[in-house]
Amino acid sequence: MAEAPVVVAIDGPAASGKGTLAQRLAAHLGFAHLDTGLLYRATARRVLDAGRDPADGAASQRAARGLKAADLAGEGLREEAVTAAASVLAADAGVRAALLDFQRGFAAAPPGGAPGAVLDGRDIGTVVCPGAAVKIFLDAHEDVRAERRLRELLQRGAKGIQEQVLRDMNARDARDRERAAAPLAPAEDAFVIDTSTMDADEVFRQALAHFNARTTIRK
Ligand code: DC
Repeated sequence: MAEAPVVVAIDGPAASGKGTLAQRLAAHLGFAHLDTGLLYRATARRVLDAGRDPADGAASQRAARGLKAADLAGEGLREEAVTAAASVLAADAGVRAALLDFQRGFAAAPPGGAPGAVLDGRDIGTVVCPGAAVKIFLDAHEDVRAERRLRELLQRGAKGIQEQVLRDMNARDARDRERAAAPLAPAEDAFVIDTSTMDADEVFRQALAHFNARTTIRK
């Protein structure tokens, strides 16, 4: 009977270098490589394409269960919207359970009859393949990881950076608006100025006009 494939589990946070290491190790050893983040990304793509919310557990679990190997080679899996959605649905235990068989199947029978498999992700050594012969956890200082991520975004061009900035800003505003204690909101009697198409002078003029309308001090 053929020997069981050798499994190498590589885990770590974003931009720790696990994808690069996994690819190199797999090429060097002649092993098959599975970037398990692609499963979460491809699931996110399906959820978004169906117009559903990645936070909707039932919709995300359905998408995870319907995932095909070909989806992992789909377009746009590195887009910011997909990255954000993948991170949301990866928190759902049902989604994670639905993706387990595929990952374990890959490790047990690496494609192309390879003698081993390298899987990289977040929970390979702990949950997916706890019996892996080799387990590596990569980490790096957050400043270094942020720098790597920035370099990656720069390589992808301004669009990637803008998407990232937009996502971070929206997430921060949503937290500010939705918190129970003193959320961000205009007072009922506030004069709201939309500055989208104004420069600072115009904003100042409008604010001063409002001040003058509301007080007897004329400035
Ligand atoms: O590694 P990545 O950025 O492509 O992963 C995409 C998302 O999927 C990320 O938010 C973490 C999640 N993920 C996970 O929870 N478990 C894995 N084994 C791999 C990825």
